[in-house]
Amino acid sequence: MKKLILLTPALCLFFAACTKNADPIKITELKPGEYEPKEWAKNWPLEYEGWEATANPTPAGKSYYKKGWDADGKIYDKLSEFPYMPLLFSGWGFGIEYNEPRGHMHMLTDVLDIDPSRRKAGGACLTCKTPYAQELQAKYGKDYFSKPFDEIHALIPKNHQKLGAACITCHDEADASLRILNQFTLGKALKDMGVDTAKLSNQDLRSLVCAQCHVTYVVRKDKDMKSDSVFFPWQNSKYGSISIEDIIKTIKSDPAHLEWTQAVTGFKLGFLRHAEFELLSNDSTHWKAGLACADCHMPYTRSGSKKISDHRVMSPLKKDMKACIQCHTEGKEWLMQRVKSIQDRTASLQLRAGYATATAAKLFERANAVKKGGRSLDEALYAKAKEYYEEAFYRVTFIGAENSMGFHNPPETLRVLGDAAYFAGKSEALLRQALAQAGAPAPARVDLELGKYLNNRGKRKLNFDRTVEFKDPFKNQEKF
Ligand code: HEC
Ligand code: HEC
Ligand code: HEC
Ligand code: HEC
Repeated sequence: MKKLILLTPALCLFFAACTKNADPIKITELKPGEYEPKEWAKNWPLEYEGWEATANPTPAGKSYYKKGWDADGKIYDKLSEFPYMPLLFSGWGFGIEYNEPRGHMHMLTDVLDIDPSRRKAGGACLTCKTPYAQELQAKYGKDYFSKPFDEIHALIPKNHQKLGAACITCHDEADASLRILNQFTLGKALKDMGVDTAKLSNQDLRSLVCAQCHVTYVVRKDKDMKSDSVFFPWQNSKYGSISIEDIIKTIKSDPAHLEWTQAVTGFKLGFLRHAEFELLSNDSTHWKAGLACADCHMPYTRSGSKKISDHRVMSPLKKDMKACIQCHTEGKEWLMQRVKSIQDRTASLQLRAGYATATAAKLFERANAVKKGGRSLDEALYAKAKEYYEEAFYRVTFIGAENSMGFHNPPETLRVLGDAAYFAGKSEALLRQALAQAGAPAPARVDLELGKYLNNRGKRKLNFDRTVEFKDPFKNQEKF
């Protein structure tokens, strides 16, 4: 008898763990399409608590590259971390303000706060920022994408005009099972790849709810350069292998996919965004081992007698590698060093490829000036150089926008960056040849004028902090 009493608490714990997915006693039946997280909190207060905590600054000093938003209140600026970026992105919003991500609770307010040039695409920008996107798009059709941002934003009920990813973004209101809300983007992209969305496993959904936003996308333009849709460029790919080559092919397949004009070269280009899902799912070790985003970013955690998914979504480093330790026995320090060494290598090659691409861009600027000055340039060489340049540009932009600094798929990251550096080098060589033939050879060291691009960003230039002192791969060499 005594033995049984002693056993009881252990047994309770055991059962709580086993019945993780069984709902707690329902207090409220949610109305279909319940957007208000406080209503959901009545049934699932522990998940709500974690979700709400994404509003707080994240622990300082734990992540090497993703400082995000420390207690010092600074928002970290990608354009200062990677000084080739303001050069490559000058000509539109991303060259003016481009920040590292922070907690989910800020997603919509950060868009409202950012330099207005970043909202120019119109209502389209709300697609990954509000749970109302699906409803608004269904109701207003093309207008949802093309009308000014403020006009579409004003259609969201007043009390939710600052609400980002909410419970309904990832869950069914009946039982909190996982569900994809954004059918007009992710649902469609999966169908385009031939995925039967009715047959997705729960483990698939533990990544796909994130892939509603953590993916690259195209804001398609009509002939007046007004946004007419948002889609994920996966049409040439298969689930589990969406490669950068496939994405570039889709972007280049239609001039309507070219969203902006790069100031330094005058080229109309597409753009790539935070492709976390694409990079991870493209044959990475962890994807092959069956992991999902939630395994590392929402690890199970115990709260009293309950085992729940930690809804304070953030970097695993900032949670002391708790997620990793569930599988890896090597210990926290060892794992952190592994992450750091992967990220250091990525940073080094990303800078090398980024500066090489920037160098080619500056040579195009020179070549264009030579042409404008009336001298003729070998058009075939120029066209070939442009082709190589675009290949380099899309690749450095892809890895530069992906948020894990290589960790989500280390070998693929290095492959893509290696190709970028190669294509940029080819482009530079062809341009030098064309310029020399035209009697206007470029100097051995091309001045990238980085300070000009970094500092001429209007009022946003002071929102600036270099988060990491990078090892300079060109140290003691003739630079650029
Ligand atoms: C509705 C779109 C959306 C969905 C769905 C979404 N995210 Fe995010 N996520 C964002 C945006 C936008 C940001 C950046 C917010 C900011 O900086 O204001 C972000 C930021 C993050 C961050 C950085 C947090 C920090 O503290 O710096 C992580 C990690 C993250 N998301 C992981 C995930 C994972 C894992 C999932 C799926 C379980 C997910 N996200 C689902 C849009 C989304
Ligand atoms: C960005 C997507 C996302 C958002 C937003 C989100 N969740 Fe979750 N939630 C998940 C994922 C992923 C799981 C893990 C599901 C699984 O393992 O089957 C989960 C699990 C759950 C579970 C099952 C028990 C558990 O903790 O594992 C409940 C209940 C839940 N969430 C409630 C909520 C509530 C309430 C909110 C809003 C306050 C919310 N979630 C917001 C992605 C999200
Ligand atoms: C095997 C574990 C693992 C998996 C699986 C994983 N991530 Fe990550 N993720 C990481 C690590 C480690 C980092 C780097 C964090 C750092 O440097 O602080 C990271 C970084 C991020 C960041 C930037 C975080 C920040 O603080 O700015 C985002 C966003 C993100 N991941 C989203 C995702 C999404 C979406 C998925 C699924 C497609 C995913 N991750 C799958 C481990 C993982
Ligand atoms: C659900 C189990 C699981 C979790 C959680 C997990 N891993 Fe892994 N990890 C694996 C498996 C399986 C492999 C492949 C076999 C091996 O190398 O042990 C692997 C491989 C690795 C490798 C070597 C391969 C590579 O891609 O470089 C590193 C480094 C690594 N994991 C780090 C981490 C870190 C850091 C985290 C947490 C952010 C993490 N893992 C979370 C299961 C996991």
